[in-house]
Amino acid sequence: MVTGAFVTTHGHPPELRPYDVPVPGAGQSRIRVTAAPVTPLDLLCAGGTSYFGPPVLPYVPGVQGVGVVDQGERAGARVWFNTDAGMRPGDGSLAEAAVVHDLETVDLPDGVSDVDAAALGLSAVAAWMALTWRGRLRAGERVLVLGAGGAVGQVAIQAATALGAGAVVAASRRPRGRDRALERGATAAVDLSDADADEVTARLRAAADGGVDVVVDPVGGATTTAALRVLAEHGRLVHLGSSGGTESTFSSATLRSGSHSILGYTNNSLTRQQRADALAEIFALAADGRCQVEHRAYPLSEVTAAWQQAAGTPDARVVVTPTDDPTR
Ligand SMILES: NC(=O)c1ccc[n+]([C@@H]2O[C@H](COP(=O)([O-])OP(=O)(O)OC[C@H]3O[C@@H](n4cnc5c(N)ncnc54)[C@H](OP(=O)(O)O)[C@@H]3O)[C@@H](O)[C@H]2O)c1
Repeated sequence: MVTGAFVTTHGHPPELRPYDVPVPGAGQSRIRVTAAPVTPLDLLCAGGTSYFGPPVLPYVPGVQGVGVVDQGERAGARVWFNTDAGMRPGDGSLAEAAVVHDLETVDLPDGVSDVDAAALGLSAVAAWMALTWRGRLRAGERVLVLGAGGAVGQVAIQAATALGAGAVVAASRRPRGRDRALERGATAAVDLSDADADEVTARLRAAADGGVDVVVDPVGGATTTAALRVLAEHGRLVHLGSSGGTESTFSSATLRSGSHSILGYTNNSLTRQQRADALAEIFALAADGRCQVEHRAYPLSEVTAAWQQAAGTPDARVVVTPTDDPTR
C-alpha cells in the first residue's frame, strides 16, 4: 500500500488515503514519485469544469511529476513523467507512486533537481513552444510576455533571452512578478494592475518602443486586446491561457494593417517527440543555471494546504514532494 492524495468532491482539496498502486502492464513503469507540481490545469480538472468534463471520483490528481523508476529493466532511472489525470480516467502524480506508460516518461539529466524539474514541467514546455513553434521567434526579434509572474511567464522571459530576443518586455499585475521578471532578464517590466485596455495599451507602448514581434499570452481578456495593439508589422500573438479573462476584442483595422497573426496553443496538441524535445531544451538551460521557476515545496502530508495555496494567489509554483530521493 502507498499513500495518495484523492479528490473525492469536485472543487475540494484532495485528502490522503492508502491505496494499492496498480501493477504495471506491458510498456508501463511504476515510479516512486519525488516531486509533483499543483498546476492551474490540475485545479481546473479537479473542479469539474474543464472542457474534458468532470473527472470520475475519487481520483489522484497531478498531470505531471518527477521520480525514479522502481522496478523492471529501467529501475533507477530518474524521469519526468506525464499523466492524463483529470482529463481521462486514471490516477496522477500526487501520490507516493504512480504507474505510467514508458512513452510518457523523459529521462532527467544530471544538474537539474527533482523539485526544479517539477516546477518547470509543462508550463515550461508551453512557454518554449509558444515562442519557438507557434511564435516562430527569430534572433533579434522583440518579445512581450504577459502574466510574467507565473510559471509560464518566468520561463518565457528566460527562454526568449536564451533564444536571442532583441528585447523582452514583461508585464505583470504583481510587484513581485515585475521584480522577478527583471531578475530573470526582462529588459522592461510593465504594471498590468488597475488599468483598462486603453491604459494597458499606453503602458505597453511606452515600454515596447516600436512594437513587439511575438507576444506570449497566458492571460487573455482586456490584456490581450491591449497586447494586440502593440504588435509590430507581421507580429504574432500566441494565446495559451485565460487566467485574466476568457474573451478579448480586436479592431479589424489593427489586425489587417499590421498583417498580424493570433495563434492558439495547447500542450495537448504536441506529439510526444515535440514535448520531449522541448523538455530537453528546457532542462539543458536549467542545468546551465539559465532557466528556473520560483517554487515552494510541501510534503505529501501537507497536500491539502499545498492545494489551497495553489488555488489562491500563489507567488510561487507549489510542488508536493511525496517521497525523499537521495539524488535530489
Ligand atoms: N495552453 C497550454 O497548454 C497551457 C500550458 C500551461 C499553462 N497554461 C495556462 O496558462 C496560464 C498560466 O499558467 P502558469 O502555469 O503560468 O500559472 P501560474 O504560475 O499559476 O501563474 C498564474 C498566471 O495567471 C496570471 N493571472 C492570474 N490571475 C489573473 C488575473 N485575474 N488577471 C490577470 N492575470 C492573472 C498571473 O499573472 P501575474 O504575473 O499578473 O500575476 C500569472 O501569469 C493558466 O491559465 C494555465 O492554465 C496553458
